[in-house]
Amino acid sequence: MPDITITTLQQMKQQGEKIAVLTSYDASFTRLIEKAGVEVLLVGDSLGMVIQGQESTLPVTVDEVVYHTQNVARARRKALIVADMPFMSYSSAAQALDTAARLMKEGGAQMVKLEGGATQLETVRQLVAHAVPVCAHLGLLPQSVHRLGGYRVQGRDEASAAVMKEDALALQQAGAQMLVLECVPAALAGEISQMLEIPVIGIGAGAACDGQVLVLYDMLGVASGDLPRFVKNFLLETGTIPAALAAYVQAVKDGSFPAAEQSF
Ligand code: KIV
Repeated sequence: MPDITITTLQQMKQQGEKIAVLTSYDASFTRLIEKAGVEVLLVGDSLGMVIQGQESTLPVTVDEVVYHTQNVARARRKALIVADMPFMSYSSAAQALDTAARLMKEGGAQMVKLEGGATQLETVRQLVAHAVPVCAHLGLLPQSVHRLGGYRVQGRDEASAAVMKEDALALQQAGAQMLVLECVPAALAGEISQMLEIPVIGIGAGAACDGQVLVLYDMLGVASGDLPRFVKNFLLETGTIPAALAAYVQAVKDGSFPAAEQSF
C-alpha cells in the first residue's frame, strides 16, 4: 500500500471521505492503530498528561517528543506522522526551524503541529519555506491553558468566531496544509471546514469536519480523571483494543462519531 501523504488527505477531503486520526506514542500501539485503518498518527504533547502524568502539556520537551516520534516511526508502515511542537519550542521562527528539524530528522515526523493563529503566521511561512509541512491548531489551545483560564469551548461568541475564521484562512494562506480545531461549536467548525481547502481535523468540534482525532488513552478509557464530554470510550462497547480502534475508525468514516452528545 502506498504511503499516506498530505496529497492523499487533500484528495480524501475533496472526495468527502473522512480522515481518521489518533494520537500514538509508541511502536506497539502504532502497529494496532495502523491495522485499524487510521490515516494519521499524531505524536501529541498530550503525552505529557497521559504518559507522564503531568497536569498539562507545558512541561513536555522537544527531546521527549523526538523520543516518542522515533518509537512511532519505527513501527509505522504508511500512515502520516505528525509531531507536536512543544510549548516554547517555537517562540521565534528561528527556534521553530530548529525544533522542526529535530522532529523530522531525528524523530522521523513528516509534518509538525503548532498551536496559535495570527501570532504564528510568520513562523508558519518560514517553516513552509524550508520544506516543513505544517498542521495548525486553533480553538482550545492546551499550551495556552493558563492564559485561557482552563479547558473551555472557544469561539462561542460572534467576535471570537470571526477571529477564528480569519486565523484559519490566514494560516492556510501562510502555507499550513492541515488544521486541527479543538473544542469549537460544531456549526463554526463546519463553516471553517467548508471555507478551507486544506483538511480540517476536529476534536470536540462536531461531525462536519473533514476528519476526527482523539487522544488514544481517552478513547480507550485508560486516562485518569473525568473524560471530556467530546470523548467516547470505544473499548467499553467492544471489549478488545483492536475492536475499539476499528470501531473508532468506522464511526469516523460513517460520520456517526462525534454524535450530538459529544459535540458543542
Ligand atoms: O497533543 C495532542 O494530543 C493534541 C490533540 C488533542 C489534537 O494536540
